[in-house]
Amino acid sequence: MNSKQTLIVTTVTFLLAAAPSLLAADVAENWTKNCGSCHGADGTGKTKAGRMAGAKDLTDGAYQKQFTDEQMLQRLKDGVTDKGKEKMKPYKGVLSDDELKALVAKVRTFAK
Ligand code: HEC
Repeated sequence: MNSKQTLIVTTVTFLLAAAPSLLAADVAENWTKNCGSCHGADGTGKTKAGRMAGAKDLTDGAYQKQFTDEQMLQRLKDGVTDKGKEKMKPYKGVLSDDELKALVAKVRTFAK
């Protein structure tokens, strides 16, 4: 391999290694920006806004078993209302399908 080829291989290897962490940074950022205010950095929902809105503890595995990934995704798209009052706003149009799916996966990592 000449040095130019070595450079290309090194660059490609670096990009492949960096890709998942770039993706992960995006989800973490989306969580902090859009969800953390209510659900907390750790998903427990013990923030001021979370208590006011009535956010449930997402680290509770039994609670998380009550909905499938598809249901969770749908709820994120449509939002959650209770007796006509908005508890969580709809994220359709705010975040893309892929971003929402990544957040569904992130929410699952909170469950104990
Ligand atoms: C304004 C506060 C608030 C924000 C911001 C918020 N949520 Fe919620 N979330 C709630 C409340 C309140 C509920 C409903 C709890 C209940 O079932 O009564 C809820 C429910 C949920 C549920 C359970 C869904 C189900 O199927 O029952 C998930 C998962 C969730 N939120 C994830 C997220 C994600 C991901 C974001 C960011 C994109 C987010 N939330 C942003 C307040 C919020």
